[in-house]
Amino acid sequence: MTLPNGLTVEAARAEAERAYALDREHVFHSWSAQKQLTPMTITAAQGCYVWDGDGNRLLDFSSQLVNTNIGHQHPKVVAAVQEQAAKLCTVAPQHANAARSEAARLIAERTPGELNRIFFTNGGADAIEHAVRMARLHTGRPKVLSRYRSYHGGTETAINLTGDPRRWPNDRGASGVVHFYGPFLYRSQFYSRNETEETQRALAHLEQTIALEGPETIAAIVLESVPGTAGIMVPPPGYLAGVRELCDRHGIVFIADEVMSGFGRTGKWFAIEHFDVVPDLITFAKGVNSGYVPLGGVAIAPHIAASFDERAYPGGLTYSGHPLATAAAVATITAMAEEGIVDNAADIGARVLGPGLRELAERHPSIGEVRGLGVFWALELVRDKATREPLAPYGGTSPAMTELAAACRAAGLLLFVNYNRLHVVPPCTIAEAEAKEGLAILDEALAVADRHTAAA
Ligand SMILES: Cc1ncc(COP(=O)(O)O)c(C=O)c1O
Repeated sequence: MTLPNGLTVEAARAEAERAYALDREHVFHSWSAQKQLTPMTITAAQGCYVWDGDGNRLLDFSSQLVNTNIGHQHPKVVAAVQEQAAKLCTVAPQHANAARSEAARLIAERTPGELNRIFFTNGGADAIEHAVRMARLHTGRPKVLSRYRSYHGGTETAINLTGDPRRWPNDRGASGVVHFYGPFLYRSQFYSRNETEETQRALAHLEQTIALEGPETIAAIVLESVPGTAGIMVPPPGYLAGVRELCDRHGIVFIADEVMSGFGRTGKWFAIEHFDVVPDLITFAKGVNSGYVPLGGVAIAPHIAASFDERAYPGGLTYSGHPLATAAAVATITAMAEEGIVDNAADIGARVLGPGLRELAERHPSIGEVRGLGVFWALELVRDKATREPLAPYGGTSPAMTELAAACRAAGLLLFVNYNRLHVVPPCTIAEAEAKEGLAILDEALAVADRHTAAA
């Protein structure tokens, strides 16, 4: 038997064994205690599936790190990278280049409003770094506001903007970031009973935070349009419009972080389109080329770009708009448009994943809440539906969550797991049958979580 990349299972197993041994000897991994790691080796991938070192096929409901929106090994993107490699592998950022120019045009065409200038970075965190730098220089103000329960990246400014425990060891209290509570009705900070109250109270809290911090000291508010890693909390109606209004009132730059939510994930090109709001800057990465080659960037509104018409923008990267990465973006965006992939994400979410996950919630005592859009869903797992006690503590894990993730994997399903949550985030290309296959595996595996609930 051979894998989709032509390797026999035996050859893949031998490759995987060597890769694993060398990994354990030489590779230093992100966010981890190195000695506790037993990484899964992936030897092949195709569409919505990956193969592990033992030749097992797994349905990839994680899209790796929620980035392979177009699925694995899309032939048009693979061909575009190969063709670009043969044509021109690299150019310095100061030169113009066909792949970069075309990628910028295709992205600008899809951003809301007039965000039609694109600054390219190597990934999401550096996109955030640059967006904040632009906002600070544009306004001449130092502070940046972001929400608790957020993730914005691993570099200095980005990790300090982040509202999750990964910030704590990196935060020396001098980053100029102030955190506030965003809307999250299921665990409302505002004792809200419905979305209308949550919107009003979260906006009143933000307004108060701005007033007490001093509006003239605040350069930007940075928000994921739909917070991803922190729990896929879709903002209630009116919230983002209210943030836009507060920004306008105080001359604050509104930065929408679409690194995870952009490029089809929510069933629209950008998640902020669901809310009819135009931010001043959008950060993107991941789905822009599905991570086939590292790429990120900032889409910039004209009034901010104009700040740097006559004075130099003090920032740059050797690989800004790298030809291989931007050629992959051109092919990804073109294929997504031609093949209706964004519409597929919307359709699968509305017709299969949303109803399917809600139906699981009716039968499984461990599911406290289901929330999401498109192919961007979270299951909030609890010990007790009445008290909403999480199945793992904030910032930690638990035997229940570890056993559940292992049960899913043993049955052939790869998920994104964070604290007490499972994220169902397959590629935007997923077919109905594949979505149902994943739901069926999840249904069986959730019995493991149910055993850890008060109902058991
Ligand atoms: C919303 C958001 N912003 C920024 C980042 C950082 O992106 P990167 O890991 O490419 O630096 C991420 C990564 O998951 C993200 O989800």
